[in-house]
This record gives sequence, structure tokens and C-alpha cells, in this order.
Amino acid sequence: MVGHRDFILTVAVLLILTAVSLVMIDRTDFSPKLPPPEADAPYRQAELPIEDRVNDLVRRMSLGEKIGQMALMEKNSVKNISDITKYGLGGMLSGGGGKPKENTPEGWLEMVTELENAALQTRLGIPLLYGIDANHGHGNVPGAVIYPHFIGLGAASDPKLVSEIAEATAEEVGATGVNWIFSPTLDMPKDFRWGRTYEAFSDDPLLVEKLSSAFIIGLQTNRQDGLMILATPKHYLGTGAALWSTSINKKFKIDQGATPADESALRKEYLPPFASAIDSGALTVMVGLNSWGGEKLAASEYLITDVLKKELGFKGFVVSDWYGVYEIVKNDDYHSAVKAINAGVDMVMLPLEYKPFIRNVNKAVARGEISEERINDAVRRILRAKFAAGLFDQKNAKHDLSIIGLDAHRALARTAVNKSLVLLKNENGLLPLSKNIDKVFVAGSGADNVGRQCGGWTVEWQGIDGNWLPGSTSILKGIRESLAPSAEVVFDASGNFTGETGQADIGIAVVSERPYTEGWGDDADPALDRSDIDAISNLKKKSKRVVVIIVSGRPLIISDRIGDWDALVAAWLPGSEGRGVADVIFGDAPFTGKLPLPWPKNISQVPIDSDGKTSDRTAPLFVRGFGLGG
Ligand code: BGC
Ligand code: BGC
Repeated sequence: MVGHRDFILTVAVLLILTAVSLVMIDRTDFSPKLPPPEADAPYRQAELPIEDRVNDLVRRMSLGEKIGQMALMEKNSVKNISDITKYGLGGMLSGGGGKPKENTPEGWLEMVTELENAALQTRLGIPLLYGIDANHGHGNVPGAVIYPHFIGLGAASDPKLVSEIAEATAEEVGATGVNWIFSPTLDMPKDFRWGRTYEAFSDDPLLVEKLSSAFIIGLQTNRQDGLMILATPKHYLGTGAALWSTSINKKFKIDQGATPADESALRKEYLPPFASAIDSGALTVMVGLNSWGGEKLAASEYLITDVLKKELGFKGFVVSDWYGVYEIVKNDDYHSAVKAINAGVDMVMLPLEYKPFIRNVNKAVARGEISEERINDAVRRILRAKFAAGLFDQKNAKHDLSIIGLDAHRALARTAVNKSLVLLKNENGLLPLSKNIDKVFVAGSGADNVGRQCGGWTVEWQGIDGNWLPGSTSILKGIRESLAPSAEVVFDASGNFTGETGQADIGIAVVSERPYTEGWGDDADPALDRSDIDAISNLKKKSKRVVVIIVSGRPLIISDRIGDWDALVAAWLPGSEGRGVADVIFGDAPFTGKLPLPWPKNISQVPIDSDGKTSDRTAPLFVRGFGLGG
């Protein structure tokens, strides 16, 4: 009887405590009744050194205001915009496909401005960081120019080109009010079965270092109205080395997996690009969703604080990746957050909820489990980046949306496509083709499909399969535009030309992978689709010679088939300017691209180490650096 009463009492007390703490969180005054700052407070003075401004601002902030700055929320998950003001949230993001109600440039600017204004209404008026994945142009926005995914830029291996693309991307991104992008990726994939292979420039640390630094410099030196778009080298550290079948996500294989323990390899290959990125001015670094030494990266005090911050001298802020912090201690958000922040994560990509986070961090500080010093350090780092980006000083920022999809940007993207194509086979010098051909048959899933050309991170997180990107050109259209109007271009995706009399001199098959992103692209056997294999064999029946163009985010296993083709071109994921592919096929631009990573013969060759050594010690089909022509 007594036991029963005690039980009821305990439950009642627990319920009351929970209710009180839930109410407390909403009662906590996050814009406390501290005095508003003077109009000429030092932190508001653009001409003062950044460190003075940071110091002045931090000393004015309450604990609640500081914790708010450490929260990064996905924009659809903040139901009540006034909470941005109430909790003083530091950053917002659009995940892949996190679009405004109306997915137009105007819709973006309106959405970001509304959220930004909510932040500016806080007591101290600290501006918001708004981050997106603009890793091949402003990919979420229909009408923006889509550049080749990084793997194609790795093939082009041209730092000046990468820098120009980053500048142009900054212009399109900045026009919509966004001030932060989660790029460049410094991952170096060792196993092409990984769904993120295409997001990386190469598996070669030297090339990655060179191109990613060029990207950061191009992006961040482009200042419009004094504002700069912040770059985010990612994913720290060794994400591209994760092994097959180690993913913590049951649906994936490599993505979110485990990186081998060897610290010297990590330091030799994966660290140097981050060191260069920091030297090139990166002010934020994203830690990956992988684990190392049995620990999630976001929990590694050694890698984040000792190596990145102390050894490499990184003064900017460390942001965690999507929900990654909560993978640290399963089903224990409190200890997950404590561990990550103490490890050195400064801004947490929560990204789905903020109230429990704020509550947990408050509690941890009250209990002394996170020191105030650590909180101050995190906030100083975040503010340092915000000041450096000019966010506090934007007076009359102009947002010229006409820059989106600009002709000059399209021309740049087209040049990038020209330079990214890699000629892998060319029997009897078949390529480039003459423009004076009478008739050409075109087949394959990738010929008339801009969505496939663009790959993942295009309008939707997983990309789009289809042909509806405003202003874009499919490869088929590019072929048609390259040839004289008298030339007959006959297209059938499945290569069914049985109604046509006789053979064409040339058949072009543009085969492709379906778009994918992250772990959804982990694939045990990256190969041609059955439909494309059939299309090629149909095409062969009606064409004297056959050119195969592969549109893909990685090498595909083609060893048994390549013998049947006269010419083979790797076009990677060229983006919105399909004309760039046709230019090279018809000789308006030369083939100069080189493989940015080895092209394996079969699956037993992966992982391949950065010196090109395959797992089974046999030679790959093509080594890194291979490419005919140029
Ligand atoms: C990815 C990051 C990306 C982030 C925001 C994560 O799932 O791993 O690369 O920047 O989402 O979209
Ligand atoms: C988001 C992506 C994010 C992913 C992680 C998606 O819903 O749009 O940006 O990387 O979730 O799971």
C-alpha cells in the first residue's frame, strides 16, 4: 500500500518537474531586460578591428543569447519565425530542396530576408547566417546556372576556372540574400561505390588542395556591397576513406561510415587540404558524419580541438553536420550535445529542433558540464565569421536577381564542361566528329535529360530526373545546335531506329546514372543500366560507328563492354550547359580533361589508395591522370 502511494507520489513529482521545466524554457527570457546597446556601441563600428568588435559584443551577451548563436536550424523546422528573435538563433539553413513556397529567385530573397529580419530584431541585432549547399552553382533555385559537379572540375584541373565558378556562384547565391555555403568538399573518395564520389574533386590530395583553395578564394573575395559568402570546407576528417558496410545508417553502406584508424594516413592525405583551406581564409569547417577510432567525428576533441583548432590554428567556427551530434550518444540528446560542444563543435546543425538543445546546454552550463569559457569561445568564433563576412555592416545591400542565370555565367559553365570531358577511347581518331555529317542517331537515357546531367543537389536533395530546368540545354539539344541545320539528328532513348532505312555513319549513345545524393547513392555495383546497354546494342545495329558518352557521378564498371565501342567519353555530371559536351564532340573545343581518380576494372579493386594502388594489386582500367588528347 505504502509502496503504491510512493510510486504515485514519485510519478506526480516527476510530472510536475517535467511540466515546470517545459514552462521554464518558454519563460526563459532570451532577450533579457538588459539595456539595449548604444547606437555607436563599438561592435557596431565597421572601422574597428574585428577582434575589438567581437570582444565588445560578447561581453554584452547573456548566456541565453550566447547559446542561441550556437544553434543552426533547418528553415522548415522553425514553425514560428518569431522564435528566431525570441531565442536569438544564430543560423538557419535550407537542406537540399529546402525551398521557399514559391521556388523562384524572388521567393528565395523574400524568404531569407524575412528570416534575417527576425534576427535583426533581437536586442543586440546579431545577423543570421543563412547556409545552403551550393556545390555546383545555386542548385536549389530553378533558373540558376548549374556548373559541373566537382568531379568534373577535378578532371578539368584548372584552379582559375574553379575560382571563377566560385565567384559566379557567390554572385547568384548572394543575390538571394544567402550568405553562407556548405562547400567546398575536400573529401577524397577511395571507393567509387560511395554516393558522394561526385561531390569531390579527386582522390588526389594535391589536386584537392589546389582546387579547393581556389574555390574558397574565388568565393570569399567576391564582395558585393561589402558582403562576402562564407565557404565551408567539409567534411572534417577522412570522410572519403570510410569503408564499405560500416555505415551507421542501415539503408546506406559507406556514407556515415567508419574511417580506418591509421592516423598517419589521415594526416598525410586528409589533413593538408584543410590546412590550405584555412590559409585561404576559410572561417567555418564542417565535421563529417563519419566516425574514427570508434568515435563520431563530432565527438572527437582530439581531431577538432587539438588538431584543427590548436595545431592548424583555425580561428573560425566548427559546424556539425545534419543531426550528426545526436548520433554521439544514442537516445541521449543531453550527453550528445555536451560531448560535441566540449569536443569543440561551435555551431550545431540540430537541425530539426532547438528548444531541447537550448534547454540542455543551459542545464549543462549550470551543472558545470560545459564551461562558460567554452561557450564564450564558440560564440567568439561564430561572431568572428559574421563580422568578417560583413553581416553587421550591410547598410544598403542591393539584391540584383537578374544575375541569376546570367549569360556570362552560362558561358563560364559551358567552358567548364568543355574542359571537364575526358576522352577514354578513340579508335582511328573518330573524335572529334565532323560537323558535316548528314545523319546521326542519338540514343541513351542521358541524351535528353537535364536532370541527369545535373545529378544530385539540384532543385531537390536527390536531384530531378527530367528536362525542366529553365534556361538549360540538354546534350541532345547541344548536338542539334552544333550541327548544320541540314544535318539530320534522329533521337530515340532506347535506340530503336528500326523504322529508319539504312545505317547512319555515326551513332551517339549518352548513357547515364539516375540522380542520387549521399548514402542513397551508395551502390554495390555501379554499372550501366540495362536500358542503356540495350540502347547501345540497338544503336550499333543502325550505326557504322558508335560513340558512348557516360553521364555519371563516378566511374562505372564497363570493362566487358568498352571493346564494342569506337569512342568513349566521360562527361561526369556536366550541369545545365549540355552544349559544352557537344562543343568538344564536334571539335569546337579540344579534349583536355584527365581522370581525377582511377577508373576501376572491377569491384575487387576498391578501395584504391591515394597512390593509385588497388586493393587486389591489379591495374585499374584507367589510371588517374589518363585522358587522350590535350
Ligand atoms: C550533408 C552535408 C550538407 C548538409 C546540409 C548533410 O546531410 O552531409 O554535406 O551540407 O546535409 O544540407
Ligand atoms: C536534407 C538534406 C540533408 C539530408 C540528411 C534532407 O532532408 O534536405 O540537405 O543532407 O536530409 O538526411
